Amino acid sequence: MESSPARINASGNPKSRIVSLRLVARLSVQYSFSMGQHATVMKVPLLDLQSEYAELRDEILPALDRICKTAAFVQGPEVEAFEREFADFCGIKHCVALSSGTAALHLALLALGVQPGDDVITTPNSFLATAEAITYCGARPVFVDIDPATANLDPRLIERCITPRTRAILPVHLYGRPADMDPIREIAARRHLRILEDAAQAHAARYRAQRVGSLGLAAAFSFYPTKNLGAYGEGGALTTNDDAIAKFARAARSHGQTARYEHEFPGYNYRMQGFQGAVLRIKLRRLHAWTEKRREIAKEYRSLLEGARLEMPQDDPRDECVYHQFVIYVNNRNSVITQLAARGIDTAVHYPKPIHLQCAYSSLGYPAGTFPNTERACERVLSLPIFPTMTAEQANYVANAVLEVVGKK
Ligand SMILES: Cc1ncc(COP(=O)(O)O)c(C=O)c1O
Repeated sequence: MESSPARINASGNPKSRIVSLRLVARLSVQYSFSMGQHATVMKVPLLDLQSEYAELRDEILPALDRICKTAAFVQGPEVEAFEREFADFCGIKHCVALSSGTAALHLALLALGVQPGDDVITTPNSFLATAEAITYCGARPVFVDIDPATANLDPRLIERCITPRTRAILPVHLYGRPADMDPIREIAARRHLRILEDAAQAHAARYRAQRVGSLGLAAAFSFYPTKNLGAYGEGGALTTNDDAIAKFARAARSHGQTARYEHEFPGYNYRMQGFQGAVLRIKLRRLHAWTEKRREIAKEYRSLLEGARLEMPQDDPRDECVYHQFVIYVNNRNSVITQLAARGIDTAVHYPKPIHLQCAYSSLGYPAGTFPNTERACERVLSLPIFPTMTAEQANYVANAVLEVVGKK
């Protein structure tokens, strides 16, 4: 959709009139640099759920209408069908649909036997929910620094943190890049620890040809709307090959019920809504193609940014990263953000502050400097736009703008 030119100042703010919010993806406008030159600006959002909806609308609306007509608002046939389809997709026996990824982490930890007084080893370079789920069980998150090459938990640092209180290891496949599971599994087997994968950002990713979600005893997925497989509201799932874990999660998500009004234990209200099951089924059918698109854009970014003055996490060629985020590491991040914004490019920071330095976890007593690789990553990380409906033109534009802003090595 084209529009008449608007003047935008160097900080990206409209100078003379308000730019319509609808101008998200393919808007080209003229703007002026402070030095007076003119350049073409392409608006590139971080992700574009509106254009995705435009493609899906004709399938989504009748599916939602079916839910309303059958009043299957909570769980119901669409959710059950999604559970079967997502389990098949992951190549795993059970998928238990839940109300969020956080709920999935919580129930999975409970199912693994995590209880008050236990320690769970995890990464401080994640969204807070990873640690919160441990706290919900009355256990303590024990952080281990990341490998700066991958931004994921460094397996070489795990063993020194294991104590008699350690019950489980919780690696996160951050940005859609699988954590290095072989050494983690080796340590867990030798030290009798359980593994829960936080796969909230990694739908369809593969570690050594095996899909994430089946690399530990259980895994937690999030279907938050911005995720690679996103619902139209909150959603999550626990996956496992273990019958007892699945049985526990099915009861726990619905007040501990094993049959209607038969409550075996006090559980939770962690059920998935019918609408979300219907939407997720429609989107799951596109996930392969969407993932390929993300990987193509990432490949393009990587080759165009090769000589730029920045770093990127490494991909292991044996794995398949699904690029929930495409991150770079830059110096002077705020200035880079401002200059990209002036060129019409949205960016984000995942995450600006590691979990151990959050007020919420100050009582754990990890001072600044405890996890230098994580802290340095949080100071420099920057997420660039990446989404399945992104055009090659947009990816080129973003990469060239980044090159222009950060310079060459
Ligand atoms: C790594 C990670 N873990 C857990 C979660 C929690 O998922 P949800 O928001 O669905 O509760 C998220 C969501 O942002 C996440 O990114």
